[in-house]
Amino acid sequence: MKPERKNRVCPVELAGSLDMAIRRWLQNPRIILEPYINEGMTALDLGCGPGFFTLDMARLVGRSGRVIAVDLQQGMLAKVREKIRRSELEDRITLHQCSESAIGISDQIDFALAFYMVHEIPDKESFFSEIATILKPGGRMLIVEPPLHVSRSDFEKTLDIARHTGFAVTKGPKVFFSKTAILKNGRSA
Ligand SMILES: C[S@@+](CC[C@H](N)C(=O)[O-])C[C@H]1O[C@@H](n2cnc3c(N)ncnc32)[C@H](O)[C@@H]1O
Repeated sequence: MKPERKNRVCPVELAGSLDMAIRRWLQNPRIILEPYINEGMTALDLGCGPGFFTLDMARLVGRSGRVIAVDLQQGMLAKVREKIRRSELEDRITLHQCSESAIGISDQIDFALAFYMVHEIPDKESFFSEIATILKPGGRMLIVEPPLHVSRSDFEKTLDIARHTGFAVTKGPKVFFSKTAILKNGRSA
């Protein structure tokens, strides 16, 4: 079955457009993520693409922390691998190729980022249910969605699904050209 247009996965050929230098001015990863990531954390970059956020996440978790960068497409992970090869960040970043139906990690996560990727997921209920099991109780997830692909009502529908799977939803930070929300895992320890 063909995916709906709005669930189409961003092709590896467009990776360069996610990694343009000007994006750092408009959506600076460090400024966006600093309030949520501390040293020593285990952070998850869901749908990491070419790693625009991954490297700064690894800097923020520091030597004692870890970033798991997850993507559906091996081509995207290869771009991240190339960027971190022989750098001090290499040991802090684990690359993981997931399947369409499951993230497939068992680590307990302090913070998860899903930047411009949730709209590409056809089964959001199963996606959020899985995250609820790997995000620590009280752990936070930042969702950022693009305004052109995702209408206000589609975004609200996504947040309703997150609420039904046990997340408390609050307002997210201001991010250029984006809709945002913070999800807090309501699961008890
Ligand atoms: C528009 S790109 C955004 C990449 C990155 N987060 C950024 O903002 O630069 C969306 C990414 O999500 C990935 N993706 C789509 N569906 C996914 C899924 N079910 N699980 C993991 N990654 C997925 C795609 O392969 C693509 O790399």
